[in-house]
This record gives sequence, structure tokens and C-alpha cells, in this order.
Amino acid sequence: MSGSAGTYIPGFGNHVSTEAVAGTLPVGRNSPQRPAFGLYAEQLSGTAFTAPRHENRRSWLYRLRPSAEHPPFTKYEGAPQFARATTSDPLAPNRLRWDPLPQRAGADLVDGITTMLVNRDPADLEGVALHIYAANRNMERRVFVNADGELLFVPQEGRLELLTELGRVVVAPGQIASVPRGVRFRALLPDGAARGYALENQGAMFRLPDLGPIGANGLANPRDFETPVAWFEDRDEPFEVIQKYMGVLWRTELHHSPLDVVAWHGNLAPWRYDLAHFNTINTVSFDHPDPSIFTVLTSPSDVPGRANADFVIFPPRWMVAEDTFRPPWFHRNIMSEAMGLITGAYDAKADGFQPGGLSLHNLLAGHGPDKASWDAATKAELKPHRLSGTMAFMLESCWPYRPTLFASESAQPDYDACWADFPKAQLP
Ligand SMILES: [Fe+2]
Repeated sequence: MSGSAGTYIPGFGNHVSTEAVAGTLPVGRNSPQRPAFGLYAEQLSGTAFTAPRHENRRSWLYRLRPSAEHPPFTKYEGAPQFARATTSDPLAPNRLRWDPLPQRAGADLVDGITTMLVNRDPADLEGVALHIYAANRNMERRVFVNADGELLFVPQEGRLELLTELGRVVVAPGQIASVPRGVRFRALLPDGAARGYALENQGAMFRLPDLGPIGANGLANPRDFETPVAWFEDRDEPFEVIQKYMGVLWRTELHHSPLDVVAWHGNLAPWRYDLAHFNTINTVSFDHPDPSIFTVLTSPSDVPGRANADFVIFPPRWMVAEDTFRPPWFHRNIMSEAMGLITGAYDAKADGFQPGGLSLHNLLAGHGPDKASWDAATKAELKPHRLSGTMAFMLESCWPYRPTLFASESAQPDYDACWADFPKAQLP
């Protein structure tokens, strides 16, 4: 093995050049006639060749063996709750919520993934899927690769060490990490077990949102994203490759580790980001702004302003608004909202929404504060107040989500009850 763990290059989407062995990165060209030491040059693209320059993402990899060398894939029969189908029933307009999922003995990151929500066929190259992972075993001699989308990991308990083709990324609760579509990786669990969310973006790659009148700075700043330096392992022993491809898991076996990229350059790469660096912007006068002010990353659809996916957080912050109902208001949105809780309590739901849990408010579902939160917020004396020790996220999508069969059967039975018993307004 070579390259150092924990070494990162700051910046978002930058053109990076990095080599784990001196002299392995070609100079002045991408594909020399004879790369150094007999390495194989390979381009991995994240956008079409002809995508506009400011959106074009690709990297050149210099590796011990070409990725093309592999036997046929066959169906993978493990991971009993990963990538499973939705029901063919009509999508009901119900609000749904789930408790955290238990660990299953001996599950690594792949076998420990449960797919909860999906909203487009991966072949559409649009949509998102929301998975929850609960893992307690390292991936030692197998790697995973997702051909269906970019994976955004949101740890809730325990760190993940993602050993990827392009470097090593350690991500802890409170941080997020992205592995681009097509990048192979295996996951170690430095804390013995880990739980969290894996958000799969099948559409345009996540990018930082435009800031409009906010200006040149604010929200997630590019300098706080971290891309790993080149790292590889030289292991000639059997490795299983699990690939998610068009919503189904496949497997094949190699006689070596495919994490054998000695050097790479380009702007398609994994990264991590610490949510504590998010520059939170909110009202200093009245009214709760639209939650789009909390957007960390966006994946645009083909309709301007209508996101395939927005990754939004609800971080610790000061509440100072005057003459205002301070928690999120009641709403019915055209966008569909899946929410997870990383730590603490969410300010619109005092009970029933636990860290590691999940809720779904699909297109036009009426929702907002529960009765207890509404009671407290309407009676509170509005002094400056700091919300601390909390971090929730929302994966908002223009495509309504469909729960998987497992999710349909495991939802809390009484979620609607949190909006029962509101007193009727009394006209004069
Ligand atoms: Fe909402």
C-alpha cells in the first residue's frame, strides 16, 4: 500500500494532480504511448464528453491493471434489503415515518444497506434513492461500485473509512462524503460498527448551489471540501466486486484488488465535507425563510430551479426572529421531502423522530410542526435562543418517492396522530 491516509486537497470540483509513487503521473499528455512502469491509462467520465466546460467532470487514472479485465457478472444474492423493488400498488398520498433500523449480525456496508425510498428508474439518469446502512464488518476482499449514481454518505453513528480507487476518505458523524458514480471502493469501520444514510443521486452530479443575492460567500464554501490524494493497494488475491447496475446487484471476481490506481488527475473524485463548516444564513427580522437557504448541495433537473435533488441541512443556529412562529411553518410543497436525523431533536418534531430514523412527506402532503411543537412555539417568549446539538437533513426531490416493499411494511403505524387534535380557530 502507498499514499498516506488522512491527506486531503482542499476545494470543490478542482482539477487535481496526485501520484502515490513519484514519476507515475504523465506530464503533458493523458495517454502516452508507454505510461511509466507499464501502468494502464484509463479515463473515467462523470459527464458526457461534450458537457459544457463548467459542468464537465472526468479523471484520468493510471493503474496496475486495466478495469476492462474482468469475468462476466452474475446476480448477487446477498444484501437482502439492498436495491429491492417497490410494490406495484398505486402510490398513496400518505405521510410516513420510520424508526432507526437494527444492526444485522455480520453485515458489511453492502450487505448492511436497506433501500427505503426510490423515485426514478436508474436508466432514466434522473432521480434519487435513499438507503440506510447498518454495518458491523469490514469489507476486506471485496469492493462495491455503483453504476446507478453518485453515493453521498451521511454517517449517523461510527466512522466510515472509504478506500476508493482515487484515495482514502474517513468520514465521521457530522461529516458527509461523496463517491462518484463508477468509482470502486471498500469500507472499513474504524469504530467497529456504523450506521447512517447513503443517498444515491442518479441525476446530474451534486454541485454547490448558486448564491444569488447572498453574494460570493456563504452556505457551503468550496474551500471546505476535501479530496483525497492518490492511494493504492497492490494485492494479488481474490477480490469480489459487487456492482449496482440498473437497480440490481451483480457480482464478479478478480484475482487482484481493483484499488490499484497509483496516480490520477482530473476533477471527478471522492470528497468529504464537515457540516460544521456550513455558514448558516437565516432571518434576523421575522418569518422563517424557505428551507432552500439551508441547501448544501444541489443536483439540477432539466427544468431551471427545479432540483432533481437538494441536500439540505438543519444545523445548530440562533433563533432571533420577532413576532414569528419560529419552527418551520405548515406547508404543502410541490417538491417531495425525505428527512433523516443525524443527532439531537428536529425543531418541528419534538417526539417520534429519532436519530437514524426517516420521514417522508411526498408531493403536496400537508405537514409541518406536530401538535406539541406548535403548542410550545406559539406560547414561547421570543428571546434569542440557540438551537444546539442538532443536525437533521432533507433530501428534497421533484420526483415523488416510492417506498420499497420493506419500507412500506416497516413504517410507524400512527404517524398521522402527531397532527391530530389541533384546536379550531375561533372567529369573533
Ligand atoms: Fe416539509
